[in-house]
Amino acid sequence: MKRFEGKVAVVTGGGGGIGSAISRRLADEGALVVVSDGNLDAAKFVASEIEDAGGSAVAIAADISQKDTGCDLIAEAFALRSRIDILVNNAGINRRGNLLSLTEEDWHMSFAVNLDSMFHLCRAAIPHMIEAGGGAIVNTASQWGLYPAPNHIAYNTTKAAVAAFTQNLARDYAPNKIRVNAVCPGEILTPMLEAGVKRSGRTIADLDKLAPFGRIGKPEEVAALVAFLASDEAAFMCGSLVEITGAQAVA
Ligand SMILES: NC(=O)c1ccc[n+]([C@@H]2O[C@H](COP(=O)([O-])OP(=O)(O)OC[C@H]3O[C@@H](n4cnc5c(N)ncnc54)[C@H](O)[C@@H]3O)[C@@H](O)[C@H]2O)c1
Repeated sequence: MKRFEGKVAVVTGGGGGIGSAISRRLADEGALVVVSDGNLDAAKFVASEIEDAGGSAVAIAADISQKDTGCDLIAEAFALRSRIDILVNNAGINRRGNLLSLTEEDWHMSFAVNLDSMFHLCRAAIPHMIEAGGGAIVNTASQWGLYPAPNHIAYNTTKAAVAAFTQNLARDYAPNKIRVNAVCPGEILTPMLEAGVKRSGRTIADLDKLAPFGRIGKPEEVAALVAFLASDEAAFMCGSLVEITGAQAVA
């Protein structure tokens, strides 16, 4: 089943762990995927993997913490086929620390990448979706935005804001048939998580043992959920914050 045949999808952080899995999944199901990342080599690698597998993808470098770069990304993506059907706001950073140990730069950069980017990209993309009669936006929040883990006040606060942003955007643009939802992953095995685990002196095996499911999550499992939310199968889902945690939050 090719749920995204003829559609154009933009994925931010498309060169990273979860973003590359989302990009591959949407392309497998027929979308032309704009794999965007601040790291152009990573985006190019994912786009070429997709092309090698018979899919369609274009790599575009964009530091989405910058308003102009984010707007240019949407303009370049729209220029490909005069449409943007799906926007996946997935890029994020995780600056560890409590209120006193974080720097002001950590705080502001966390908001710039994790939240402000969504404001700019959605403002650029939504007029195209309104004109087309609808669209789907999937934002990556986090389990920690709903149930904060210690020592991540900046990250957790941005993710709580992403959840609120998602619900507000959904409420405002539901009449335009733009469905806005968020995924709230628990611990997923990606470079971001591996970096955090290394800093804390633990191992992935430690996390697997602590998880009620016996293991942490895989990027492909989040990608499957994002694809569902972006698809017509989720036609009445709008404003939902969908947790994908293997019951980590209820342990
Ligand atoms: N891995 C987890 O356990 C987990 C859990 C919950 C939520 N998340 C969220 O999932 C999303 C993806 O995380 P991941 O684990 O795949 O991390 P990752 O570090 O593997 O990927 C993040 C990607 O975002 C890109 N990026 C960072 N800053 C950018 C910027 N300013 N402009 C453009 N691109 C930028 C990076 O280059 C990287 O490729 C993030 O929003 C993260 O907060 C991850």
